[in-house]
Amino acid sequence: MSRILSGIQPSGTLHIGNYFAMMKPMIELQYNNELFCFIVNYHALTSIHDPRLLAHNTLNAAMDFIALGLDPDKAHFWVQADIPEVTELSWILSCHTGMGLLERSHSYKDKIAKGIIPNAGLFTYPVLMAADILLFNAELVPVGKDQKQHLEITRDIAQHFNQMYGEIFVIPEAMIPEDIAVIPGIDGQKMSKSYNNTINIFEDETTLKKKVMRIVTDSQPLEVPKNPDTCNLFALYKLFAEPEKTQILRERYLKGGIGYGEVKKELFAMIWEYFAPFRAKRELLENNKHDIASILKKGAEKTRPLAIETIKRVKEATGLKYLI
Ligand code: ADP
Ligand code: TRP
Repeated sequence: MSRILSGIQPSGTLHIGNYFAMMKPMIELQYNNELFCFIVNYHALTSIHDPRLLAHNTLNAAMDFIALGLDPDKAHFWVQADIPEVTELSWILSCHTGMGLLERSHSYKDKIAKGIIPNAGLFTYPVLMAADILLFNAELVPVGKDQKQHLEITRDIAQHFNQMYGEIFVIPEAMIPEDIAVIPGIDGQKMSKSYNNTINIFEDETTLKKKVMRIVTDSQPLEVPKNPDTCNLFALYKLFAEPEKTQILRERYLKGGIGYGEVKKELFAMIWEYFAPFRAKRELLENNKHDIASILKKGAEKTRPLAIETIKRVKEATGLKYLI
């Protein structure tokens, strides 16, 4: 029984990369562990400044999680900004974080390289993420590979803080599904809400078909043997197919004579079928948005006392509580 925690940004519509790397592992872990799962809207505020869109994405992400099987009665499930202590801790941690540590962040450097004009929130993003994790004494943090460095930054901040003030924080560990690594988008780059290359979890049938048919493949003639391990289509196929089916396709690739169109049709059918039971539940939730809002509110109420307890300890340790 471990304390497991992870969050997801409501910066767009959730996709199958999010699902296999983070949402599915979290949902599977909820029964035998203490699960903390939340929608990180303060993080999304670094990139979204459209109030309706941020609110809409936040509710949608919550509905997606519940439709996919997260049980809000069993888990701690809330929206980040509903537990304000996280920003308090974030400030305290930022006063103990060297600029160099943040300047080395790949995710920050990649965004700058793409031409994004950074705000201060984007620069201090990893500190807020450290606050998310340390506030709740999380032991394991399920995330995709791209978040590995953020977890290392969290550990650095926590270790430094503990050295200064005593054993205040639990040092968390990343939990990265190695067999999944980075899931490619339909253009072959990392699938991401920011690259317009996603296959969303709750796509409508026509859009899903179109997107699957657009998955980029090489243009080798049909009869030529092909390498499954460098093929985006194969990488997506193996997420949905049974291992035996994947093995058969692997052999057909290596032998030659496989047509990508045929594989795409099969992949489309598998994705559509995989999410079918969840889709029905998702539609029900869509018609009861008020219920979702109250589930989230209750989730924050249930979880907040833990945050208050940590903040109290941190304030005592640092001298912010001045009556000793
Ligand atoms: P996005 O890049 O689409 O905005 P997020 O940064 O919100 O996704 O990621 C949410 C979770 O999903 C994180 O744990 C992240 O590591 C994981 N994730 C996102 N995209 C992928 C991908 N293409 N492959 C594997 N994991 C991913
Ligand atoms: N940075 C994470 C991402 O983009 C989201 C996140 C914010 C998170 N706070 C977290 C993930 C705490 C795990 C734990 O995916």
